[in-house]
Amino acid sequence: MSLKIKEAKEMLLLIPRIDLGFFPTPFHKLERLSQEFGINLYIKRDDFTGKNLFGGNKTRKLEFLIGKAMEEKCEYVFTYGATQSNHAMQTAWAATANSLKPVLYLAAVVEPDENDIKANLLLDKIFGAEVHIINMQEQESFLEAEKRSFRLGKERMRQLESEGHKCMSIPMGGANEIGTAGYISGFAELCEQAEQLELGLDYLYHATGSGGTMAGLVAGKKLLGKDTLIRSIAVLDTGDHYIADKTVLANSALEYIAAAPAVEEKDFSLDTGFYAPGYECPNEGAAEAIKLLAQREGILLDPVYTGKAFAGLIHDVRTGKIERGSSVVFLHTGGATALFAEKKILGDLF
Ligand SMILES: Cc1ncc(COP(=O)(O)O)c(C=O)c1O
Repeated sequence: MSLKIKEAKEMLLLIPRIDLGFFPTPFHKLERLSQEFGINLYIKRDDFTGKNLFGGNKTRKLEFLIGKAMEEKCEYVFTYGATQSNHAMQTAWAATANSLKPVLYLAAVVEPDENDIKANLLLDKIFGAEVHIINMQEQESFLEAEKRSFRLGKERMRQLESEGHKCMSIPMGGANEIGTAGYISGFAELCEQAEQLELGLDYLYHATGSGGTMAGLVAGKKLLGKDTLIRSIAVLDTGDHYIADKTVLANSALEYIAAAPAVEEKDFSLDTGFYAPGYECPNEGAAEAIKLLAQREGILLDPVYTGKAFAGLIHDVRTGKIERGSSVVFLHTGGATALFAEKKILGDLF
């Protein structure tokens, strides 16, 4: 399969979607780091997607997800995540701005202080979301708490539906075939910008969590027949079935936009070497990456996602996994609100 960008964009126009962001997002060269690293380093600014000041990758997914909820005439939108979830905050914003009622079930990796609500959780409240915080019980693992949050969310949804309210459930990270279509579109947008500059892109680096962004990028790459190597840096323990699951997700997103499934497991390149000690747990590599990009280029990353992904890129430059002279793009997926989150999430930055 090898569609022209224009043809892919036309396919994407045929599915339900609303206008949530400012697109195309900026794409520019990082001159100082390019020189320092001996590569041509570009950045795609999906931290600038959104209208609510704090952009991020979820805006692209939510254009399709909220578009679908509105087409189905829903009244409530449910979603899930951690208490400082960017996805939950973006969903609260996107739903509220379109007269839908957001309901969030948030599992506490880091328990918030009721008297000092910070960062995304604060924004969730300002956007008027119905927020349910699921604190971990004694002897309960985070995964168990997360499962409990799904159960409680389902119960609340059943209750609302029995009262005649139509609800839509968005999975964590917006990672279903609908949200994933957002990054098929994102990849096409990036290719269009690279073409305008007559640039071939050897590598694309980005953070992967729920995997929707990664699946969408890889689906976009297959749809357009590009050979950019997409390197996905995990921000959490991805487990054994991640790539198999994301292959299914990428193909279901292609089917959702009426394209043929084409993604195979070998199309992914996942690196799990940079997230330790865990999700929302800071590490030295991310701290170094945040400071480097801030002090060389004046651009802010975050400790949970983009800091860890950029740490992967720095490592690959230093070890020669990225060859000198390569053209590399870093996809900035947002998340800077975490710089104002709990110290436990932020870590030691100075
Ligand atoms: C800032 C940021 N970057 C990257 C990701 C990872 O995206 P995905 O969940 O699509 O894998 C997220 C997900 O929440 C995010 O908030």
